Amino acid sequence: MEYFIIRNLTYKAKAFVTIMTEGRFKTILEAYPPKRENLVSVLQDIQEEEGFISPEAVSETAEYFSISEADAYSVASFYAQFKFKKPGRHTIKVCKGTACHVRGSGSLLAALEERLGIKEGETTPDGLVSLERVACLGACALAPAMVVDDKVHARVTLAEIEKILKSLK
Ligand code: FES
Repeated sequence: MEYFIIRNLTYKAKAFVTIMTEGRFKTILEAYPPKRENLVSVLQDIQEEEGFISPEAVSETAEYFSISEADAYSVASFYAQFKFKKPGRHTIKVCKGTACHVRGSGSLLAALEERLGIKEGETTPDGLVSLERVACLGACALAPAMVVDDKVHARVTLAEIEKILKSLK
């Protein structure tokens, strides 16, 4: 029993130092009161800054909200918007909507997978490109469409894919 109390105090002291002086996400965390209803907002801000939710982010967030890491992870993983793998420096999103599918987005995705040596949802080993398949981009008249970083590419052809890939550094 005595051992548990000492361990518990040590743990709390460490958590205090991490949050108040060393936490990598200190600025984001301290912008919100540590109430559970702020958990998703904090995770959104962390992903906005880091591009994904790392184990370190889950750990610090859990400490700040005084919940378990499993609890924090369970909330984050409930939402499709959160990513748990570090994205590449560039992200290519291929539309999987009907109009784009009819106009050949499947071939574009297959060409990208072959050229990059990865499957959708993965990142190249050098961390350069992440490949995603996303729902309708709202540019159906320009099908097949894809987004590279924040730029929409319309009526994409296989030849254009080569140009796009060469431009990514
Ligand atoms: S189906 Fe691709 S932009 Fe709408």
